[in-house]
Amino acid sequence: MKVTVVGAGNVGATCANVLAFKEIADEVVMLDIKEGVSEGKAMDMMQTVQLLGIDTRIIGCTNDYSKTANSDVVVITSGIPRKPGMTREELLGVNAGIVKGVAENILKYSPNTIIVCISNPMDTMTYLTLKALGLPKNRVIGMGGALDSSRFKYFLAQAIGCNAGEVEGFVIGGHGDTTMIPMARFATYKGMPVSNFLSAEKIEEVVKSTMVGGATLTGLLGTSAWYAPGAAGAYVVEAILHDQKKMIPCSVLLEGEYGESDLCIGVPVILGKNGIEKIVELDLNAEEKEKFAASAKSVKGNVAALKDLKLV
Ligand code: LAC
Repeated sequence: MKVTVVGAGNVGATCANVLAFKEIADEVVMLDIKEGVSEGKAMDMMQTVQLLGIDTRIIGCTNDYSKTANSDVVVITSGIPRKPGMTREELLGVNAGIVKGVAENILKYSPNTIIVCISNPMDTMTYLTLKALGLPKNRVIGMGGALDSSRFKYFLAQAIGCNAGEVEGFVIGGHGDTTMIPMARFATYKGMPVSNFLSAEKIEEVVKSTMVGGATLTGLLGTSAWYAPGAAGAYVVEAILHDQKKMIPCSVLLEGEYGESDLCIGVPVILGKNGIEKIVELDLNAEEKEKFAASAKSVKGNVAALKDLKLV
């Protein structure tokens, strides 16, 4: 099985490294526009293969899409990352043109591939890829919810004082500092509601930390985070490639689900060999419905911007 990662920056290279390290694919191709960067990172990773006892082939190339031919899944990380103080939405103008061009090139060599979008603003880039290329909606997936849910579980575990692997929780809505909705009501520790262990104030704190999780890291690092975003990308790829039928919150096209349409936004979906195999509709309460509608309204503002730019 073959996976291509476009963009060999921090996020793309980390994603490729996790795909290789966990032997999720037999072959991982990294493609970048910067001469030599993908080749160098691929060679560096290949020199870990015998140390780690793995058997994945990692190939780097500069803008040569023929090397990506017949990929089962393609991850798009291209574009510029945010700097401290920037929102993900501010990247729209620059990244939209880049992502559209990448997706067009990818489809020339892998017409049946499934595309996982990581580039920001992630929901909007997912919508752009889907609509500009006229792909069926099961084949284009934004990974934001997987990352945000992982951050939510981390902050919950920190607050409870337990292992994050023992916590269940997920985030829906847009992948934005004000648009994501950590679903505290559904979060559990060993099957018990987290409210058994944490006060309402503490849960609110966890929710807030999750929402600005990316911005906090951008402030600390001077650029956007990469370990968790890269690993979240690989997690989504694994669910598709290995037909795991896992339920993961991802950004997908809604056509009436959750009372919304004509946008991509995070909701729980079942991922398998066909990409999105099912959209799971949660029974939201009035407050959650209100938050979801507000999140959708904000994400739709970006869809309108894409339409103004005549990109879709
Ligand atoms: C983040 C970026 C990758 O949330 O969107 O870290």
